[in-house]
Amino acid sequence: MKAIYPGSFDPITNGHIDIINRASNFFDELIIGVMMNSKKKYMFSIEERKKLIEQQFANNAKIKVVTFQGLLVDYMKKHHIKVIIKGLRTVTDYAYEAQMALTNKNLYKDAETFFIHSTEKYSLISSSIVKEIYSYGGELTDYVPKHVVDALKEKLS
Ligand code: COA
Repeated sequence: MKAIYPGSFDPITNGHIDIINRASNFFDELIIGVMMNSKKKYMFSIEERKKLIEQQFANNAKIKVVTFQGLLVDYMKKHHIKVIIKGLRTVTDYAYEAQMALTNKNLYKDAETFFIHSTEKYSLISSSIVKEIYSYGGELTDYVPKHVVDALKEKLS
């Protein structure tokens, strides 16, 4: 069975990697959908975000990274995907994710959202926090892989 994990990934963090690794154990193929939230301003282009994820999972044949615009459910229908993976860190995530899950269900009745709870040590990480820590010269080893630190360094230099 296939599943899709959609998100902005600006950039991918250890929290996302934790969810991807755990979800991939349950599916034959896990598609990471790198998308645009029209309300957000991004540091990395969509292609840069995709590349950072591909570098991380280069040795995992189950994981495929794609970019697309438009509705998630339209991509799912076209590619015969019925499962959406989402990570939940705190109750605040739940309020937002419940709305997304119900909207996606209304738009595509076969879609099911599976929630995976973050590992505790990653439950307070977000891409914005990573960028903020980096902008003040903070240590990022616990938050993102090395190639992402390098990409941040290059972007902000
Ligand atoms: N570990 C670390 N961070 C996590 C995380 C985890 N497990 N889970 C979520 N986050 C963080 C992200 O880093 C991100 O942080 P940021 O706001 O600082 O960048 C934040 O949680 C939200 O991330 P994400 O889940 O990627 O949501 P998003 O709002 O950036 O993107 C889309 C949401 C693009 C996937 C969604 O809007 C979408 O599907 N759009 C397509 C259009 C559509 O179909 N709309 C109808 C659906 S309602």
